[in-house]
Amino acid sequence: MTSSPSRPASGAGSSWDTPEAVARVASAYRTTDVAAIRQAQIDVLGPIAGAAIIDVGCGPGIYARDLALRGARVTALDSAPAMLAAVAEEAASAGVTIALADGDAAAIPFPDAHFDAAVLVQVIEYVPDAVGALRELARVLKPGGRLLIADTDWETASWGIGDAALSEQIKRAWCATKEHADAGRQVPEWLAAAGFVISAWEPRLLTVADATGDTFLGHSWPSYRRLLERSGAVATVDLDRFDDLCKETSHRGTFSFCVVRHAWLADTPGGPQ
Ligand SMILES: C[S@@+](CC[C@H](N)C(=O)[O-])C[C@H]1O[C@@H](n2cnc3c(N)ncnc32)[C@H](O)[C@@H]1O
Repeated sequence: MTSSPSRPASGAGSSWDTPEAVARVASAYRTTDVAAIRQAQIDVLGPIAGAAIIDVGCGPGIYARDLALRGARVTALDSAPAMLAAVAEEAASAGVTIALADGDAAAIPFPDAHFDAAVLVQVIEYVPDAVGALRELARVLKPGGRLLIADTDWETASWGIGDAALSEQIKRAWCATKEHADAGRQVPEWLAAAGFVISAWEPRLLTVADATGDTFLGHSWPSYRRLLERSGAVATVDLDRFDDLCKETSHRGTFSFCVVRHAWLADTPGGPQ
């Protein structure tokens, strides 16, 4: 998410580089709703045992762990040191080996044609020069290397809380916290501009039926609320009303949240490996 004025947008000292961000991303991404989408996305990569894969913007390493559990030789790169520390813990507790790399998607610290495959999941929405980052990924991939890129189209988010205007207001404010709120739907054009050839598309709905439970939304919303409140994007009275409606409709069984998560598989020119 975008930084507060006193913090850089990514890297050391950014809002990603805190124990709270590590805990929030790890808990949201461990939920069964997100885990199911992750496994379906990894399936799109096809066989990966023995493949050298770089996970760019790896966060706390849940994705990297799952790639390693399928036998890939994984390098996890992130620009936030706190995230890399969490990856080391995740790898140790899963009993897998994951190499760590401190770096930025805009300047990946590896030579040309170094990896068989790459993953970039829920990262491009935060990267100002999206095409530049994809060109950098193409550089470190071998000819014919595979890129799995996945991101959300936050413009498709909808909250069923019985108040369409308030739901729309929250969506607009949430989207405004993103560098590219509609990254999910922009990815194909960015891939083409960076010279990739798309070979598969895996769109999934992320759905939540209880805003207060152990779900993606349950773990993510409190920090977004703080962000919207701090920035003044939404009045506290409206945020309170939104929270009340989420709780009330969840309790009554009428709450719904859904958003589209896109995943694309693309190859660098050079033919299948
Ligand atoms: C939402 S998390 C995604 C974590 C992981 N990819 C996953 O899906 O489980 C976004 C991560 O991208 C990292 N990030 C953001 N901008 C980055 C950049 N320019 N270079 C490297 N990492 C970046 C953040 O530090 C954070 O760990």
